[in-house]
Amino acid sequence: FCGCTGSPSTEEPTTTAAPAETPLYVVGIDGDYPPYTYIDENGDPTGFDVESIQWIADEMGFEVTIQPMAWDGIIPSLLQGKIDMVYSGMTITPERLEKVSFSTPYWVVNQSVAVREDSELSLDDFTAGTVVTGTQRSCTANDWIETNLVETGKLPEEDLKLYDNIQLALTDLQNKRVDAVMYDVPVIRTSIEGKPLKVLGTIQTDEEYGVAIRKEDTELLATVNEGLARLMASPKWDELKQKYEME
Ligand code: ARG
Repeated sequence: FCGCTGSPSTEEPTTTAAPAETPLYVVGIDGDYPPYTYIDENGDPTGFDVESIQWIADEMGFEVTIQPMAWDGIIPSLLQGKIDMVYSGMTITPERLEKVSFSTPYWVVNQSVAVREDSELSLDDFTAGTVVTGTQRSCTANDWIETNLVETGKLPEEDLKLYDNIQLALTDLQNKRVDAVMYDVPVIRTSIEGKPLKVLGTIQTDEEYGVAIRKEDTELLATVNEGLARLMASPKWDELKQKYEME
């Protein structure tokens, strides 16, 4: 009559009452964002962020489904309730904070510029806006290039090519459809391994990664923050950093 599931049954005194249902949250990721979020050789989502949320879920007593999806549109999907959080190397930005809440930051990154191995371009060429450049649509590298190169009139709008994910941009870099790709340092480093590409240089942006959660889900935010704090204080954190070769 109270609707509770936790009241002990008098008829079966030896059985413990059914525990309150374990909450299940859907975690949206970009499946092409190594080492944070990607799909392994068995087709399963994994990576630094995926293992982090799986650990946090165990620790805090909830379950997660990892949902790979298009990056462009991942915040609308969160707002529409298709997913419950974005845990995929998302930089905390003022624009995003207008729409969603973020957890406490768990990582800081800068931006890398990658070119072909035999390229003679310099970072100055890149910042002068003379290089046809690619990146992912709706990411902070996209914002940086718009603000610093396009809006200043240095880089013609048509010399900025936007892709659904960074692997497509790197393929076009190899195929000479673009001459540079700008993106988050750890993701460039991991993604150019074994390809005839190199890092031209780094542009310091001091971006903080956080977990995006709907503004009204304050309890979930508190739970994720507590889980993150416990994770970062546990040996698992160093283990993950070593496994994914992150500093
Ligand atoms: N950190 C950059 C941003 O927030 C790039 C993130 C892209 N993340 C991803 N999972 N594709 O815009």
